[in-house]
Amino acid sequence: MQADDTLPEPDSLSAEHSARVAAHLHARIEEAGGSLSFAEFMQESLYAPGLGYYAAGATKFGEAGDFVTAPEVSSLFGRVLARQCAEVLARVPGGGVLELGAGSGRLAVDVLGSLAALDALPDEYLILEVSPELAARQADAIEAALPEMRARVRWLDSLPEAHRGVVIANEVLDALPVERFVRRENVRQIRVAARDRQFRFVESDAPGILEDAVFAIEDDLCRALARGFTSEVSLGAAPWMTDVLASLQQGVAFLFDYGLPRREYYAPDRDDGWLRCHFRHRAHNDPLILPGIQDITAWVDFTAVAEAAVESGADVAGFVTQSTFLVNAGLGAELEAEDDAALVRQIALSGEVKMLTLPGAMGEAFKCLALSKGFDAPLSAFLHADRTHTL
Ligand SMILES: C[S@@+](CC[C@H](N)C(=O)[O-])C[C@H]1O[C@@H](n2cnc3c(N)ncnc32)[C@H](O)[C@@H]1O
Repeated sequence: MQADDTLPEPDSLSAEHSARVAAHLHARIEEAGGSLSFAEFMQESLYAPGLGYYAAGATKFGEAGDFVTAPEVSSLFGRVLARQCAEVLARVPGGGVLELGAGSGRLAVDVLGSLAALDALPDEYLILEVSPELAARQADAIEAALPEMRARVRWLDSLPEAHRGVVIANEVLDALPVERFVRRENVRQIRVAARDRQFRFVESDAPGILEDAVFAIEDDLCRALARGFTSEVSLGAAPWMTDVLASLQQGVAFLFDYGLPRREYYAPDRDDGWLRCHFRHRAHNDPLILPGIQDITAWVDFTAVAEAAVESGADVAGFVTQSTFLVNAGLGAELEAEDDAALVRQIALSGEVKMLTLPGAMGEAFKCLALSKGFDAPLSAFLHADRTHTL
């Protein structure tokens, strides 16, 4: 795997931080006897307390950071999502919203503001965030934009025992650590070792749990993966989904992410996997560089997520592209509300709509998977062009 050789140089503070994270990773590799599984390496790089990309002070989001997410592109994303949440909340009296992995807090601000405008404000907006640094940022963002609503927002340390209403997770599944494997005669695990203080990939026998996961994929595809085929599998996604759905007693979970149905995820020509790293708005696929100061993600196998959901007693309420979600759920109405806005605002909105919906931007790669429990009313976002059959 090659990083883009036009990646910018980190500034000196970031470089110093990265050196500390690298030292931590080298120590972990040594402690583990010479190598870490890729999932362990990703976990430490992103979440090691006080060091990892999400656990330390990197800007991450927006222009000054490394990547933009849909809520960072435009408030339209949260405004339309709020309309969909309002539909659910209208049928789950007393229900609330639970947002997982709330990033900068931007989505929470947009959803809360729009729910208030729609007269559908829940009593509580719960946030479960693994990064204490981001949780503090989220509180500041809500306090600054919606001080009157700050009291409704509560941060949790773990999933609530029983939640009713809506669950939202935008770009959280792609941030869960994945295992990497290569199919040879057997399934081999790709691990991370070090030589001359540089990280490098090495292969070893796959543990049973990884081997079983790859065999299950092959069973489902009705073919063996080609020799040399390299990809990822998220062993954490199914238990995460099961836990989230055990918490959801009644309502709908909306999961947005870049991802695909399994058949496309493991298509024969996609033989180097789906890792995507972000540094200063450059996307590349080398997770071994810039430790602690670049984001490491993997596209999502939505079939695996849907399977876990169904196994834990939930229903798939719909699976659409982000573009379809937004158009079906009220993008037009949100734009109409801006009809009288100044020309400069109209021009900005038009750029935002393109970014959110065009196939070459975020419109097609990003999908929304909706999972429901005790809720069978139709949802606007999935009334047209539902792709559940592709999962
Ligand atoms: C790529 S960011 C997306 C942030 C935000 N949702 C947005 O769209 O801008 C991933 C977020 O998920 C959080 N996260 C990662 N693993 C998580 C987990 N297991 N539970 C809850 N949040 C998690 C990260 O700390 C971060 O806030």
